[in-house]
Amino acid sequence: MYKNDQKYVYIRTFGCQMNEHDSRKIILILKELGFESTDEPENAQLILFNTCTIREKAHHKAISQIGRTTIYKERDPNTIIGVCGCVAQQDKESLFDKYPHLDLVFGPDQINKLPELLDHAQRKKRGLSVELVNTPEEYTFLDQLPEEVAPASSSFVSIMKGCNCACSYCIVPSVRGKEVCRSPEEIVAEIDQLAKLGNREAVLLGQNVNAYHSKRSNSSTKDVTFAKLIRLISDETGIDRIRFTSPHPKDVGEDLILEYGQNEKLCPHIHLPLQSGANETLKRMRRGYTRERYIEIVRGLRKASPDISITTDLIVGFCGESDADFQMTFELMEEVEFDSIFAFKYSPRPGTFAYEQLPDDVEKVVKEERLEKILALQRLISMKKNEALIGKDVEALVYSLDRMNRGLLTGRMPDNRIIHFSGNPDLIGDIVPVRVTAAHKNSLAGEMIG
Ligand code: SAH
Ligand code: SF4
Ligand code: F3S
Repeated sequence: MYKNDQKYVYIRTFGCQMNEHDSRKIILILKELGFESTDEPENAQLILFNTCTIREKAHHKAISQIGRTTIYKERDPNTIIGVCGCVAQQDKESLFDKYPHLDLVFGPDQINKLPELLDHAQRKKRGLSVELVNTPEEYTFLDQLPEEVAPASSSFVSIMKGCNCACSYCIVPSVRGKEVCRSPEEIVAEIDQLAKLGNREAVLLGQNVNAYHSKRSNSSTKDVTFAKLIRLISDETGIDRIRFTSPHPKDVGEDLILEYGQNEKLCPHIHLPLQSGANETLKRMRRGYTRERYIEIVRGLRKASPDISITTDLIVGFCGESDADFQMTFELMEEVEFDSIFAFKYSPRPGTFAYEQLPDDVEKVVKEERLEKILALQRLISMKKNEALIGKDVEALVYSLDRMNRGLLTGRMPDNRIIHFSGNPDLIGDIVPVRVTAAHKNSLAGEMIG
């Protein structure tokens, strides 16, 4: 029900978990300014697009949505329309030239400026704020200690921002700036508070989470590495499950591998982006590891935690990728048998090293063929792995009702698989024992035990 004297915000989010998390922070800031959120843009006084530019398609999707918002402005000229996130950071003020009806453009490091920007916009002035904040002294993590949260089972927690890698295909470093790590005290305090409010799981977020490095302010001696941070969180908070995304293979230390073997709270899953199985391609991608090193990490992880599920990201058709190179990726997939993958056709991004210096020389049809080949292979592997779980008993953290409205519950298994089963909606937020009864491509079905 819409109230006349209430201000509403409609926010549409594209892209990765960082953006999802940023949108939540934006909503918290706007709540303080008197806004409620709505799913209907026609009822909103403020319309925001939190955008992604990782591939051309993502960029295009965001841009075409912005173009369509002129209708809201025509209907009510006081409607404020803004673009934030990675397209805002990439395109900056040129967005105003392209879309004269836009009021706000702000980058991912400028979310805290939102009250000021809105004030500007309400006085019919455009607001632009696209600086990157690259030092710990100047950067504030917006995650506040939550006073209250909606009954949730799992929460994202930023532990760092930005990325210091230089993967030649990737636009993230230029739109998210340099790495800044949050202090371990702040992270531990937030997670402990989340646990006290009923959250069971924390998902640690960062573009390269395992590059995390900090010091505890109360003991000047000890460095806090990523593995150490996980240990601190499990020792000093009441959270039951710890996950993270995304780590980089070159920064996987022996201490993280050992943690998988020793820490019950660290979920047996890692999403470890491989990108390519060919050393020549990896070199041109500037990934900083070889095929052999990647396989070695996988072996180490499986030795420490035999049932660990390993998922990955792959890019096909990167500059100079030959049939033989592609075959190396295919064979590595057969050897490692990932539990699931995200795979993409290479998309040149302006401003990146690859865009400037390497020819995008794999034909579109070849990219498509290669993508289809690895997706087909993965379908077989995923299905085989899911079927192998039938009859097993697992602990599922109940997230929500199932999205298809079949009256089932949706739970997440420790290994990150989704499982559907029937049960009382009161169980949302609980960890319950479930027996796996059937396997699908991307999920499992089960029955609660006892
Ligand atoms: N920080 C994360 C990745 C963020 S982007 C990490 O390094 O793991 C998510 C995925 O998008 C990447 O892993 C990569 O597979 C893909 N990707 C990034 N840039 C791309 C590009 N230019 N073309 C195609 N895929 C890309
Ligand atoms: Fe991009 Fe590489 Fe950084 Fe991931 S690690 S965000 S792929 S530059
Ligand atoms: Fe996209 Fe920005 Fe994330 S480009 S993938 S939303 S960091």
